[in-house]
Amino acid sequence: MSNPSTALTDTRLLLGVSGGIAAYKSAELVRQARAAGAQVRVVMTAAAEHFVGAATFQALSGQPVRSSLWDPAAEAAMGHIELARWASQVLVAPASADLLARYAQGMGNDLLTTVLLATAAPVALAPAMNQQMWAHPATSANVARLRERGVAIWGPGVGDQACGESGAGRMLEASELVEALIAAKVGDQLRGLRIVVSAGPTFEDLDPVRFIGNRSSGRMGFAIAEQAALMGAEVVLVAGPTSLPTPARVERVNVRSAEQMLRAVLDQIDRADVYVGAAAVADYRPVAPRPSKIKKAAEVMELKLVRNPDILATLADRARRPFLVGFAAETDDVLHYARGKLEAKRLDLIAANRVGLPGCGFDSADNELTLLWPDGELALPRASKAELARRLLLHVSERIRSRQG
Ligand code: CTP
Repeated sequence: MSNPSTALTDTRLLLGVSGGIAAYKSAELVRQARAAGAQVRVVMTAAAEHFVGAATFQALSGQPVRSSLWDPAAEAAMGHIELARWASQVLVAPASADLLARYAQGMGNDLLTTVLLATAAPVALAPAMNQQMWAHPATSANVARLRERGVAIWGPGVGDQACGESGAGRMLEASELVEALIAAKVGDQLRGLRIVVSAGPTFEDLDPVRFIGNRSSGRMGFAIAEQAALMGAEVVLVAGPTSLPTPARVERVNVRSAEQMLRAVLDQIDRADVYVGAAAVADYRPVAPRPSKIKKAAEVMELKLVRNPDILATLADRARRPFLVGFAAETDDVLHYARGKLEAKRLDLIAANRVGLPGCGFDSADNELTLLWPDGELALPRASKAELARRLLLHVSERIRSRQG
């Protein structure tokens, strides 16, 4: 179980639930949004109440659920206009074909559509419907009209549907919607920054079929690149060998060896404001990789290795250096070794983590980091790599801003 996150602290989420079987997923969405720090209030349409009871949302949100414009007690407590003003973000999930149509027409014939018209907060819709309904030209026209007005449309996903059909129309999962909420919130925190991230292992070839590698999955570096792009940065990801998909809006340069990685980073660095060295760069490479496969002969075989260039140290030596972030993956004495590397490589920041623990570090979804800089440190408790990446990047942007200011 991850620690409660703070990614949605300050978010006042007004969750609209319209009629659809996917409404059951919205109960989980309320739970996860609150776990990420959001305050949540739920407004249901009359149709939604056929699928999930208001009591479920009330219990999960910790707030009274509203469904009618005509409930004098509820209106006295928080009127629909106040509700619309209270929200910092509105999300309708599931958004049925009927809800899309009514909103696109500007109708205000129930509490939810009234709030949608009255709010100045950003509005996102997570459509959920049968795939034929989603593909219908009327629905497409409504969606296009809403997009033109600046409404975000999240999803729908493709897959099996409750009606037994398969195609586009599935509501995104609760966790995907929470990630979208976080991305919407952080969308301009790194605007104007160009960030180069290195990630993954490097492979140092012995011959055409063998190499020396390491167990880095690349996930931490990919999470940093992905989050940096979501936070508005221009991102170049220099990736060692890994099968991870390229995150959206990230420019990727694939490399294999440490020397190739250094060259690719140097190609990018003059325009970069930040370099994050999340790659597990091999320290040594074979002195002379063989052009053809090494055959088995001797009983004992010796490999001769030579030191690879240190990418971070190379960057630190340059006259114009970007803000330099290193990683220190250690099995023992983590903070001691990390501070040593911070100083030896003259970094602005180093993120230290213990590797070799089950469920944390290499090849796992969660991680735990301590940020160290010349005159301070900050422990980031165990969380998803996405959450840690955001917190690290926020710290970097604050440091850069305070330097500039
Ligand atoms: N690094 C680098 N170039 C190298 C080796 C490492 O830029 N040739 C960077 C890594 O990307 C990471 C940091 O240096 O950000 C620390 O890497 P690590 O392997 O932990 O440290 P090393 O300096 O290689 O020291 P050691 O292997 O002795 O722990």
